[in-house]
Amino acid sequence: MGEARIGIYGLGTMGSALALNLAEKGIRTAVTNQEPEWIAPFLTEAGPLAANLVPSETLEDFVASLATPRTILFMIPSGAPVDGMIERLRPLLGEGDTLIDGGNADFNDTRRRVADLEGTGLHFVGMGVSGGEEGARHGPSMMVGGTDHSWTQLQPMAEAIAATFNGDPCVAHVGPDGAGHFVKTVHNGIEYADMQIIAEVYGLLRDGAGWDAARIGALFGEWRKGPLDSFLVEITAEVLGVTDPETGRPMVDLILDTAGQKGTGRWTVIEALKLGQSATAIEGAVAARSWSSEKAARGVASGMLPGPEGAELPDEATLEAAMLAARILTHAQGFRVLAAASEEFGWSLDLARIAEIWRAGCIIRSALLDDLAGALRGEMPEGHLILTLAFRAKLAETVPALRTTVIAAMQAGLPVPSLASALGWYDAMRQATGTANLVQAQRDFFGAHGFVRTDRPGATHGPWHKV
Ligand code: 6PG
Repeated sequence: MGEARIGIYGLGTMGSALALNLAEKGIRTAVTNQEPEWIAPFLTEAGPLAANLVPSETLEDFVASLATPRTILFMIPSGAPVDGMIERLRPLLGEGDTLIDGGNADFNDTRRRVADLEGTGLHFVGMGVSGGEEGARHGPSMMVGGTDHSWTQLQPMAEAIAATFNGDPCVAHVGPDGAGHFVKTVHNGIEYADMQIIAEVYGLLRDGAGWDAARIGALFGEWRKGPLDSFLVEITAEVLGVTDPETGRPMVDLILDTAGQKGTGRWTVIEALKLGQSATAIEGAVAARSWSSEKAARGVASGMLPGPEGAELPDEATLEAAMLAARILTHAQGFRVLAAASEEFGWSLDLARIAEIWRAGCIIRSALLDDLAGALRGEMPEGHLILTLAFRAKLAETVPALRTTVIAAMQAGLPVPSLASALGWYDAMRQATGTANLVQAQRDFFGAHGFVRTDRPGATHGPWHKV
């Protein structure tokens, strides 16, 4: 029997950073990689930390180097490679061993893998890891799914390497089976919306007010010192201040305006819709990335589709408050999706704990998350963050600025899909009587779908005179 407490399969950027983090915390870590030639350079990079690393070139040696019950973490591309690895490892493993997928997997795949391994004695864990390479190396935020058995194995190691917020490790066993990957997916959905909100405000200042990148960066730098303090605002300020050494122009001005996406934002939207929810600010962000890819069409359309002549933009304080309102609404939508999934899958997610483990290490870490954690611990009327005392007050203060900003953007003809969608949701939620009565009448008219009257219970039909 080996002595390594955990094994990492996959020495790419994230896998090697996590292995070094574990080794640094004194945890003996087995490592291997599909291409064995990556191992030697990795050990050289590890320097003195290599003393805590146990390299193997074959899967058999890798498994043999691990203490039982074994804990093996895959840091490989999600999808088919994970299924392939499970198949290859299965015959080498025994009762009580745990396989962990630390990639950005679709939680439906994770649930399927958990179900496939049921009754085999093996455990499968989906674990969301956030924070990029820097986080993985020095303290990520981790969202762990799977069984209590696996968590008992993993907990001391995960807590040792996680980021901390006031001494509290940013890792938790959030729930069984696919819960960890679901929570990470929603984290990324919020990440998409947070990034988009920043980009929309950048667009207003660039295209509406004619500010250059450095000036906008300086404003974000100021905002970072207040309630908008977040990792994403911080890096935005930094990015906007960087000059291209070749041309002397702001680097950001030289980057093609088509955004990539690997799928987690889209999955958040899809899963929200399946759960009967709609995270509109996140949808706005996913849509904006999709529209951005139609670069050629936009180039043509810009000369064909007229817009307004421009309009007065709000001042900086109004934009700051608008961003805060939109960020609150975005997070509230994300947590609403988590609550719906928790109910649907019987996960009993502790929403406050999720907010707590997002306070450090992850990409969406921000001052707001600490306030959210507090509110989520308290009374939440109708299960909605926006109805908590603390957030009602914050929204009352900031939504007028969001409204002013969205109106100004629309008058100027500048797209703000996430800001506008966040506001649209806020306005829909505060309508005691909406307009779905008319939709119900239409459905009943053309499809006899029935509706419920306001003055008596039960489904009925309208006295429509068919044309
Ligand atoms: C994180 C990030 C990380 C990555 C995502 C988003 O939490 O560390 O979310 O997982 O940035 O894969 O990627 P896309 O923007 O390419 O979808």
